Amino acid sequence: MGTVLAIANQKGGVGKTTTAVNVAASVADAGYETLLVDLDPQCNATVALGLPKDTAPSSYDCVSGHSTIAAAARRTPFEGLSAVGATPDLAGANVELPRMPGSETRLREQMGAVRECFLFTVLDCPPSLGPLTVNALVAADRVLVPVQTEYFALEGLAGLLDTLSLIQRELNPRLTVAGMVLTMHDGRTRLAQDVEREVREHFPDLVFDTVIPRNVRLGEAPSFGVPVIRHAPRSPGSTAYMKLAKEVAARV
Ligand SMILES: Nc1ncnc2c1ncn2[C@@H]1O[C@H](COP(=O)(O)OP(=O)(O)OP(=O)(O)O)[C@@H](O)[C@H]1O
Ligand SMILES: [Mg+2]
Repeated sequence: MGTVLAIANQKGGVGKTTTAVNVAASVADAGYETLLVDLDPQCNATVALGLPKDTAPSSYDCVSGHSTIAAAARRTPFEGLSAVGATPDLAGANVELPRMPGSETRLREQMGAVRECFLFTVLDCPPSLGPLTVNALVAADRVLVPVQTEYFALEGLAGLLDTLSLIQRELNPRLTVAGMVLTMHDGRTRLAQDVEREVREHFPDLVFDTVIPRNVRLGEAPSFGVPVIRHAPRSPGSTAYMKLAKEVAARV
């Protein structure tokens, strides 16, 4: 049975999509059938895999009940990696979902045979704790939280963990935190070192050993529509995400 991993943090621009795309690509590269589901109306994960923003069926068709995730999965040009793309109309789901009965469990009900078809399903969440993220957390087995190694990194993390416990208690007893990953780490700065130490002290058992460095190759890969392991396989960003994928796989 496959594992469903949500990548979530309500804070914007912390590396959720970069982590979702590159962990999924690294796991697929290791030979495991993997699915990436873009649940963000910004469609960044869709574009990062070189897919158009008008795919059908899209993740919007899944949350609105017109397709299962498994049926919407399409092969990407990368071996072992399939995807359900997002479209900008997914933004409408934020308004529509709360009006539907059982709105928090819509995505879980549309998973279909995902766990039989894919060893790993990665859900890329938008930067909010709104209906789309709640749906992802209700459908997931594990959640991975990217934390940018910047000032204010800890801000919001306690609240996020409270929300996770609430969802676990009320809606999805299976949900556990896979871990936190420090992203965009600039080892030359004192700030990055301080933030890393502080986050590790606060959450001793939760932070992955692997730290994702700030790396130009990681930032530019989406503009080529390929994961970093294809764009620059020997770059520090590529090596780090490969290592992280191994750690994640060992914890799920
Ligand atoms: N380790 C890194 N090194 C350099 N650039 C990075 C790194 N990680 C992410 N980026 C860049 O930083 C920006 C934000 O990253 P990303 O889109 O992954 O964050 P996000 O949390 O998904 O954002 P949002 O909250 O808007 O969905 C992007 O332009 C991305 O290419
Ligand atoms: Mg994103």
